[in-house]
Amino acid sequence: MSGARHPVFVDVDTGVDDAMALVYLFASPEADLVGIASTAGNVGVHDVCRNNLALLELCGITGVPVSRGSETPLVAPLRTAEDTHGPEGMGYARLRVPRTELTGYDAAQAWVRAAHAHPGELIGIATGPLTNLALALRAEPALPRLLKRLVIMGGAFDYRGNTTPVAEWNTHVDPESAAEVFAAWTLSGAEHLPIVLGLNLTEHAVMTPELLGRLAEAAGSTPAGSTPAGSSSTPMSALDPRGTASTASNPLIRVLEDAMRFYFEFHHDQGEGYLAHLHDPLAAAVALDTTLVRYRPAPVDVELTGTLTRGMTIADWSGHWGRQPNALIGTEVDPAAFFDRFIARVGRFARQLDHS
Ligand code: BDR
Ligand code: CA
Repeated sequence: MSGARHPVFVDVDTGVDDAMALVYLFASPEADLVGIASTAGNVGVHDVCRNNLALLELCGITGVPVSRGSETPLVAPLRTAEDTHGPEGMGYARLRVPRTELTGYDAAQAWVRAAHAHPGELIGIATGPLTNLALALRAEPALPRLLKRLVIMGGAFDYRGNTTPVAEWNTHVDPESAAEVFAAWTLSGAEHLPIVLGLNLTEHAVMTPELLGRLAEAAGSTPAGSTPAGSSSTPMSALDPRGTASTASNPLIRVLEDAMRFYFEFHHDQGEGYLAHLHDPLAAAVALDTTLVRYRPAPVDVELTGTLTRGMTIADWSGHWGRQPNALIGTEVDPAAFFDRFIARVGRFARQLDHS
């Protein structure tokens, strides 16, 4: 993809890792971000909209329309994850109240408008529940054929869930929308199948305090890390007092460190270590460079009625259903290559922000 810029539309439920994905897109020269859809998920849709607008402003980006999505999933009542992402979705970070406004049209319309504006060219990314995308597909059934590519972070394939024993968060919040999206690709005759990155893949993208320290260093931020003055190069640690505020000199790194500390603490409390999975940034990176991951095509569907298994994603690897594949499922990734790129891009972007 070197040289050319590609129109990109992203649908997020921001969310700490969604925020990291957005910043990666802002930092990627080949991405021409043409719109952001806000979906209720990690936090309510009002908070998601505010986070998206505030992140754009923090990063000095103008002209990217942000649209508000449905307040609730298609059928299920909304469930949110403040325990994972903080009370406003940005961990311990507090963003300025944005001055910019949302679009006059909603997030489903935003998907359709973007696809019509860039037929055959648009790269779509969905890192939250698929409510907006399902509504967009109802409004424009040709959407799968209008997109150049779609990357979805969602599901867990032959892998345990993170929300129930078998269901991943995004799919569990709105299973009906996920089922509609997969069904739409089955029926569409689209040339390109959606790339689906489930927990089986995205849990390999493990952000650590050391990697976050490398990011701060790449941004030229001092101190690298966020410990109190006098211990400048010590990375964050589980031993730090909870909620220790970042003292990073770079304004973007400060926000990302405050957000990531909450996310580290959550994973730590889950018994996973003082680390965090960067599900959504990996999806953003793959959307811009599909070679970061290996895939297998399969028919995919979502369990809607199981009393124990609602929201589970099932890939029929052996053809039991007699259906054609409707997704390319990510099966292998090189996390080091992903983090090298993430740190180089976001570090460079944050550094120039400090001087602008
Ligand atoms: C997904 O759930 C959300 O909490 C994250 O933002 C990510 O999109 C991982 O299951
Ligand atoms: Ca998300």
